[in-house]
Amino acid sequence: MDLLEAIYERHSVRSYKDKKIDGEVLNELQHFISQCNEDSGLSIQLCLNEPKAFTGMMAKFMRFNNANNYIALVGKESDDLSEKCGYYGEKIVLKAQQLGLNTCWVAVTFSKSQAQKVIKLNADEKLLIVIAIGYGETNGTSHKVKPIEELSNINELKDVPEWFLNGMKAAQLAPTARNQQKFRFELHKDEVKSYSGSGAYTKVDLGIAKYHFEIGSGKNIFKK
Ligand SMILES: Cc1cc2nc3c(=O)[nH]c(=O)nc-3n(C[C@H](O)[C@H](O)[C@H](O)COP(=O)(O)O)c2cc1C
Repeated sequence: MDLLEAIYERHSVRSYKDKKIDGEVLNELQHFISQCNEDSGLSIQLCLNEPKAFTGMMAKFMRFNNANNYIALVGKESDDLSEKCGYYGEKIVLKAQQLGLNTCWVAVTFSKSQAQKVIKLNADEKLLIVIAIGYGETNGTSHKVKPIEELSNINELKDVPEWFLNGMKAAQLAPTARNQQKFRFELHKDEVKSYSGSGAYTKVDLGIAKYHFEIGSGKNIFKK
């Protein structure tokens, strides 16, 4: 499965099989997370066989079941922490999809205090968000997405370069908090400008959407 296929295959999954992540899958996942940490300066951590963060009321309300593993997105406080966590977290999400795993980004409906007990957190670092991960009971389902005209400055799709359109199609499928899709990409001559919109977790959402846009368009826009 290539990354574009992983984008189409991925949906949030909240109910998992009682099956451990181990062997070659675990090795590859851990290696990939270490590489992301090296590239980003983040301190992303994989928490395995730790069911307590997803057994509270909030998790039950959202129907999390057997969510015994999660990825904690940890980094030093900075202006770009949220966007960076979104970008590198989604890299791991799509890699997980390629490895046959399922995921769900979780900002609110888990016990942060429990997660903080099991991760390594330096005084200048913050746990921003987690991603539940495991073998899903199902692969999840598609959700409604906003039209490209609403997510960009494009009015007439026929006048748009193909690479931008492909970037937008991939960005359309990016997971966002409460499926809010407040991000926006604008094409000005050959340059792409992006905006996060206002509200909680919109910067994380933008980082996620940027990674999708890069895969669809084949252009590097994150490290500008
Ligand atoms: C930044 C972020 C935070 C999220 N927080 C939660 C959460 O607290 N609880 C939850 O059940 N889902 C959460 N989600 C999952 C979204 O609800 C889900 O991605 C969205 O509805 C789109 O569905 P899809 O991922 O299946 O495409 C979050 C997603 C993102 C990107």
